[in-house]
Amino acid sequence: MSTSQAGPDNAPVQVAVYGATGHTGRFVVAELLRRGFTPIVSGRDAARLEALAKEWGEVVVRPATVDDPAALDRALEGAAAVINAAGPFAVTAGPVVEAALRAAIPYVDVAAEIEANAAMFAGYGEAARKAGTPVVPAMAFYGGLGDLLVTAALGDQAGGPAAADVVHVAYGLSGWHPTAGTRTAGQVSHQRRSGRRVRFANGALEYHDDQVREQDWLFPEPLGRRRVIAEFTMADVVTVPSHVAVPEVRTYMTVEAARDLAASDTPPPEAADASGLSDQTFVVDVVVSAGGAERRATARGRDIYAISAPLAVEAVQRLLDGRTREAAPAGVISAGALFDAADFLASLAPHLTVDLPA
Ligand SMILES: NC(=O)c1ccc[n+]([C@@H]2O[C@H](COP(=O)([O-])OP(=O)(O)OC[C@H]3O[C@@H](n4cnc5c(N)ncnc54)[C@H](OP(=O)(O)O)[C@@H]3O)[C@@H](O)[C@H]2O)c1
Repeated sequence: MSTSQAGPDNAPVQVAVYGATGHTGRFVVAELLRRGFTPIVSGRDAARLEALAKEWGEVVVRPATVDDPAALDRALEGAAAVINAAGPFAVTAGPVVEAALRAAIPYVDVAAEIEANAAMFAGYGEAARKAGTPVVPAMAFYGGLGDLLVTAALGDQAGGPAAADVVHVAYGLSGWHPTAGTRTAGQVSHQRRSGRRVRFANGALEYHDDQVREQDWLFPEPLGRRRVIAEFTMADVVTVPSHVAVPEVRTYMTVEAARDLAASDTPPPEAADASGLSDQTFVVDVVVSAGGAERRATARGRDIYAISAPLAVEAVQRLLDGRTREAAPAGVISAGALFDAADFLASLAPHLTVDLPA
């Protein structure tokens, strides 16, 4: 474990994790402990939190259900920030962000539900600005990482806000063993879309019934040419256009991973060694067309759930240290708009290997 994170009065810095019992929440708690924060572990299952707390050691246990605002307020007491890792976010994001705004502390979540991500931007921007609080949705593998890569690929564009003609985000997953939370998120999103598909085109989310289409994608070596599902739409279609003027964001998924996700008998992720990480690997390959030029940014790593923990915790650490593009950011803001993207990505080594344009 690293040196304790201490505030100005030398008290340990507490960060609340809502959904600490989940697969991703547990990686988040471990990452906070590794960095010397004191996690306040919260969620709906008090017995499970107590049992896990015995393994974690230096944590504060504060159970709360999302329909109990007073319990959520107690859970956030003394916390410098909250990370919400409990999905479905269609259910948890509203109550937890409202508690964060009442406490006037930063809120970071790992939501990969496009409609929930969009609802956060649409519904909480003004309240977050008024509270003087940053709210960062999708600060995880899907949503946050793609947005940081797109922002880093665009670099410093002279003359105003970032702009692009089209953004492509291709996910090269060796496989996808989904958690129960991922499966539920998929079902919730499917219901919200009444079974339709969604893409980001003509500057907006478009719902459609077009056939699923496959194509080749040329990933950097060693992955190389792979078959991908085109318009396998992920949270990047919300995070990227939230601050980049772009009419089209297209996301792609390797067919093997899409098949794993669709199959009801694909097992959940399993630790492959003592690190707790699975042996599933990923490449996120971003190609941005802007002003007639193409720029590429690529990240490689292992375990899409585990990598979400350093992404979310690094965001919290930077918010608390003031390492943000603007002093005192407030409102609903995505990772690329909030942070120095290239510096953020570089700080995630050795979890992530990143290639950015020179
Ligand atoms: N953007 C990304 O790249 C990314 C990465 C990782 C995860 N995620 C998302 O994060 C969510 C969690 O994923 P996971 O892998 O950790 O799944 P998981 O292992 O199934 O954990 C789900 C967590 O949510 C909690 N939860 C579920 N319904 C709840 C409710 N109504 N009220 C309060 N808590 C509730 C569960 O609590 P109990 O233990 O009490 O059941 C558990 O802590 C999913 O929505 C997933 O899509 C996104």
